[in-house]
Amino acid sequence: MALVTGATDGIGEAVSHRLAGIVDTLLVHGKSASLLSALAAELAPAHPGTSIVPILGDLRSFADVRRMAASIRTTFDHIDILINNAATAGQHPRTLTEDGNESIFQVNYLSPVLLVAELYDLLLAARCCRVVNVVCDIHRQARTIGPGFADSRRYHPLIAYAQSKFALAVHTASLASAFAESRCTAVCLDPGVAETKLRRKLVVLPGGVVSEAADNVLYAATMRPKAREFYLKGKEIVQPEPELLRAPVRRALEEMTEDVLGRQLPWAETSEAGPSSAYC
Ligand SMILES: NC(=O)c1ccc[n+]([C@@H]2O[C@H](COP(=O)([O-])OP(=O)(O)OC[C@H]3O[C@@H](n4cnc5c(N)ncnc54)[C@H](OP(=O)(O)O)[C@@H]3O)[C@@H](O)[C@H]2O)c1
Repeated sequence: MALVTGATDGIGEAVSHRLAGIVDTLLVHGKSASLLSALAAELAPAHPGTSIVPILGDLRSFADVRRMAASIRTTFDHIDILINNAATAGQHPRTLTEDGNESIFQVNYLSPVLLVAELYDLLLAARCCRVVNVVCDIHRQARTIGPGFADSRRYHPLIAYAQSKFALAVHTASLASAFAESRCTAVCLDPGVAETKLRRKLVVLPGGVVSEAADNVLYAATMRPKAREFYLKGKEIVQPEPELLRAPVRRALEEMTEDVLGRQLPWAETSEAGPSSAYC
C-alpha cells in the first residue's frame, strides 16, 4: 500500500503510473478534484489488480492535511510507502496561507511533516515502511530554518523554495534516526532535473526527462539503505550537508515545527541518535 502526494502532475504522476503496477492499493493525492478523477480514471483500468484511491487536499491548509489523514485512517491500518512529492515553486510577492505561514514553507515542509505526524502509527504498523521525501539539492544553498522571512521585501521564491527543502532534508535526518529501532526507514532524494511545471517556474533552463526522475523516486522507495545512509541524488547515496546531521539544528527545527503545528512530533524524542541503521 502506497501514498503519493502531488500525483496529478510531473514526477508524482509518473511515479504513480509505475507504482500502480506494483502495489495492491495506491493512494494518489492532489489538490484538484478534476485532475485527481482524471488520474484515477486512467490508472484504474490499466491496473485492474490495484485499488486506486484518490485523496483530495490542499497542502496550503493544515485542516485539509488533517482531513486527508483522518480519511485514510478510516479505511487503512498501515502504510507501506509514503512519498512526500508534492511541492510548489511559489510566487512573487510572498503569500501567506490561511494558517498564517509563508506558502512555500507550508506546502513543501510543514504540511508533509504534519502528514507524517498524523499517520505515524500507521507507518509503524506496516511490516516494513519507507518514507521518501523528495527534496532538491538547491537546499545546500540555504542555511536558515525559519518559517518564512521576517522582512518580506527581501523575499524571493527561489530562496524560500531552497529553505523549505533544507527543512525537509533536516526532518528526514530526524525521522531516519527515530526509525532506527523500528522496521521503518526514511530517505530523501534529489530526483534530478525534469521538465515540469515546477521546474519551469523556478528556472529558465530546460529540464531533463520526467520518467528518469520518476525512476529515481521509485528506486528511493525500494532500495536498501545501509547504516546512516539517507540522502540520495538520483540513484547515488551522497553525503548530506553536515548541517542536517547536527542535533541542535534538528532540535531547533523540531521545536519551531511543533510550535507552528500546535502538536508534538511523535518522533521528536527518539531522533537524537543519528540516522537509522535499520533497513528492510
Ligand atoms: N522538476 C525538477 O527538475 C525537480 C528537481 C528537484 C526536485 N524536484 C522535486 O520533485 C517533486 C515533484 O516536482 P515536479 O517537478 O514534478 O512538480 P510539478 O510537476 O509542478 O508537480 C507538483 C505536484 O504537487 C502538487 N501540488 C502543488 N501545490 C500543492 C498544494 N498546495 N497542495 C497539494 N498539492 C500541491 C501539484 O498539484 P497540481 O497538479 O494541482 O498543481 C502537482 O501534482 C517536488 O518535490 C520538487 O521539489 C523537482
